[in-house]
Amino acid sequence: MCGIIGVVGDADPLTTLLAGLTRLEYRGYDSAGVALVRPGEMWRARTAEGTESVSALKLACADAPTDARSGIGHTRWATHGAPEAVNAHPHVDCSGTVAIIHNGIIENHRELADDLRARGHVFTSVTDSEVLAHLVEEGRRAGLELLEALRATIQAVRGAFAVAVMDATEPDVIVAARRVSPLVVGVAPGVTYLASDVPAILDRARVFYAVNDDEIVRLAPEGFRAVDLDGAPVRLRQLSIDWDLETAEKGGHDDFMIKEILEEPGAVRATLLDRRRLDGTIAFDEMRVDDDELRAVRRVVLVAAGTSHHAAQVAKYAIERWARLSVEVDIASEYRYRDPIVEIGTLVIGVSQSGETIDTIQAVREAHGRGARVVAVTNVVDSSLAREADAVVYTRAGLEISVASTKAFVAQVAALELLALRLAQLRGTLEPDEVDALVRGLGALPALVERTLARRAQVEEVATALVGARDFFFLGRHVGFPTALEGALKFKEITYRHAEGYPAGELKHGPLALIEPGVVVVAIATDPTLREKLLSNLAEVKARGATVVAIVSDDDEVTEAVADYLVRVPVTEPMFTPVVDVIPLQLLAYATARLLGRNVDRPRNLAKTVTVE
Ligand code: AGP
Repeated sequence: MCGIIGVVGDADPLTTLLAGLTRLEYRGYDSAGVALVRPGEMWRARTAEGTESVSALKLACADAPTDARSGIGHTRWATHGAPEAVNAHPHVDCSGTVAIIHNGIIENHRELADDLRARGHVFTSVTDSEVLAHLVEEGRRAGLELLEALRATIQAVRGAFAVAVMDATEPDVIVAARRVSPLVVGVAPGVTYLASDVPAILDRARVFYAVNDDEIVRLAPEGFRAVDLDGAPVRLRQLSIDWDLETAEKGGHDDFMIKEILEEPGAVRATLLDRRRLDGTIAFDEMRVDDDELRAVRRVVLVAAGTSHHAAQVAKYAIERWARLSVEVDIASEYRYRDPIVEIGTLVIGVSQSGETIDTIQAVREAHGRGARVVAVTNVVDSSLAREADAVVYTRAGLEISVASTKAFVAQVAALELLALRLAQLRGTLEPDEVDALVRGLGALPALVERTLARRAQVEEVATALVGARDFFFLGRHVGFPTALEGALKFKEITYRHAEGYPAGELKHGPLALIEPGVVVVAIATDPTLREKLLSNLAEVKARGATVVAIVSDDDEVTEAVADYLVRVPVTEPMFTPVVDVIPLQLLAYATARLLGRNVDRPRNLAKTVTVE
């Protein structure tokens, strides 16, 4: 998605903006731009060179003014209007002295633009964002000071935005506002920053604040002030950011993806940390839903997208098995439009690494509006999803930059299974000693993940042997099925090779027709209770010429009879296997993509966070 950054009071704002835009690149983008402001003059440069736009921008800034102290910058992921320089941000008003940058979608931009054109405004782009520049211009023409002009603007627009505005008549001021799209403010002595998220200004700001929906901030070198939509002063919530700059860098690895895969033991460990009170009950962050309400839950609905949806599918098995509650798992973008049934006792769990996925936020809002209680499972403190929910269970996977989500998945499964155990505790469907044993089993997972990561070489051998294959099926049964879906998603999104995840029992209902020599079947075969059935599925595909890769437990002595390649993982409780079994699948995708020369951190066409529907 788009990324925004701004700074006031900086001795070298251009360097700050370009460094910040570089750090925002992972959000996915196809063009970029900056604006610097001097008294009475707005200087602007924009490029549209795909994922090289920021590099191109540095060249385009050769003649940038050196006496500016403030500026704004933007990386754009096209939603309205082609990825061309004319549509790149910053956009300016008719006078060329008001500049805006925007992340999100203005849903009523057409009617606003029609009205503005009727008032004589001239548009130079086909974006939805440009209306913001002309609306602020209207406010300035009416004599409003800059913050008030922006407040009037966001009262007129519908949709999602994180918007920042500069006016050459007030060179050391930026005003900004957000609704749905993320926005943070950072402060250092004599300099104030804003950005879509922390990494962009991590090495410059000292203290960070979250801007909430419909709050408007005015930044000046000495600091900032904020008001709500009615103009009443508000205090921004300070964020507890313990990331050092290195966290946002690659830590010596070739890519963020492998760094984040290798961080998975720590992600699971941190997520499970101090989750139990002295009396043995399981405790969560910001649990604003009390025990009686949780005890009264009669039905659970999980909504999520992508990898988070696969973690949610694992949670279905755990909640039904341990808490004996019926569970539905919905694709977030579908939930909102199917007129969902929400009765008394419905608990909706929104799962999202970023906490900014618009589909999941809107699905949770829909559920909330129909009376459901909502728990968020998210990796970002104060994210939009966290603020929308009645309660939050934070995964503590740390910053996840690579577009391919890896450590977030294992942390989500751990957090969701802990939530399932909490529900079982409250409903008395598990004895205390059973809960203790399962919590201990969860606690043993980081070490098992470490042992699995240590076997990386065996996966790399498989990747090398099969790098020429074009079609991959990932099969599993029970929780091995969502694990297979996740393995297929990882594989397709970074190798660009066709890969599908399927319940192993479904193969003979159609997909078996696709099996022929050259097709690779990757089977998750670590659950001993289902091994026999899976073996017969593998025999079927083997007989038709498929190449079989089996993920098997250390104690498995039978699967090698039907597998061309074995990848062994430590034995664990079947319900915990997704956390361990997903590791070789992530490594297989990573190793294959590297062999194919793919950009594993920023795969084509994709964005880290999808903040538009
Ligand atoms: C997973 O590797 C993808 N990057 C994508 O499917 C992602 O999981 C999905 O967009 C949901 O993101 P979220 O967890 O931040 O909501």
